[in-house]
Order: sequence, then C-alpha cells, then structure tokens
Amino acid sequence: MARLVFRKSGKVIENPEEIKSFLSQYGVVYDVWGVDRLPEDVRKNYNIDEENSKAIIQAYEKELKELKEKMGYITEDIVVLSEKTPNLDGLMAKFKREHHHIDDEVRFVVDGSGIFPVKIEDDIVDIHVEAGELIVVPAGARHWFELDENRKIKCIRVFKTPAGWEAIYNENETATMRD
Ligand SMILES: [Fe+2]
Repeated sequence: MARLVFRKSGKVIENPEEIKSFLSQYGVVYDVWGVDRLPEDVRKNYNIDEENSKAIIQAYEKELKELKEKMGYITEDIVVLSEKTPNLDGLMAKFKREHHHIDDEVRFVVDGSGIFPVKIEDDIVDIHVEAGELIVVPAGARHWFELDENRKIKCIRVFKTPAGWEAIYNENETATMRD
C-alpha cells in the first residue's frame, strides 16, 4: 500500500485514510481502486498494445467516468516504464528533475510501483504508490517522479489535453500558470 515519507522530519504515514486526508489538504488526490478485477496476464503485460490498453481502460470504466466528470478530464491512455523501455536511465534522469504542469498529473497504477516526491510546505513528501492506487498531483504543484527498487510501473494516465502535461522546469512560471 501507499506510504508517505517526509524527507526532512523522517515522519512516515502508512494508513490509507490518513494518507488521503493529509494529501487532500494540498489538493493531492489519493484513492484505492484495486487490481483484483484485472487478469494477471493483462496487468503484468508490459508490451502494451491497443487490445491490452482497451481491456484495462474498460475494467475501470466506471471509476474513470466519475473521475473525468468530477475533474474535467477528457482522455486517457496507458503508459509503462520497465527495463524493456529504451533509454530507461535517460528517461528517469529527466523525470527526476523538479517540475510542474498546467494540468493535473493523474496516474492509476495498474502494476509495479513508483515514487512521486511532491513539495509540500517546506518539506518534500515522497508519495510511494503501488498497483491499485490512484494519485492526482494538482496543476502547479512542484514534483518529480522516481522508480523504486522494482524498476517498473504501468499506469493509466488521464488528461484534460495531452499538451497540458508538458513539464515546466522553471519554478517562477508557477504563478502565471495558475491564473
Ligand atoms: Fe510531472
């Protein structure tokens, strides 16, 4: 299950309800949809194609519809990172740079796990997420992404527009992007 680790204080939160309520104060959404509904071969297939993506998106149709209606998202896709990903280390170096987006970063973890470090007040909170968990990093929040020791993650991404998900590395652009 998810875990919050506060880099400065060393505090750890592991209770899902506590995680949800702590993060919600900062506009970060955390939820558990589970993965029991997905056949293992569908979930653990990292050679994603149209058939695999469709099967996953269909399995979460109800949750995705509710989320999209509530938050104004319009589209979704499937993304994977694993040892099979070309130039994984290069990509990870890029993802590790602090940035924000003008849209929310929405990820439902289908398989594997990862860490979203998010700047909250004067600390950095490592949000560890695993299969079955949803995280929404709100527009404007400074964050980055790291793989953990599993070195793989498979996610549903949900967008308002794919263009809104471009990383903005310069912190000073935050104010204008929030207007
Ligand atoms: Fe991001």
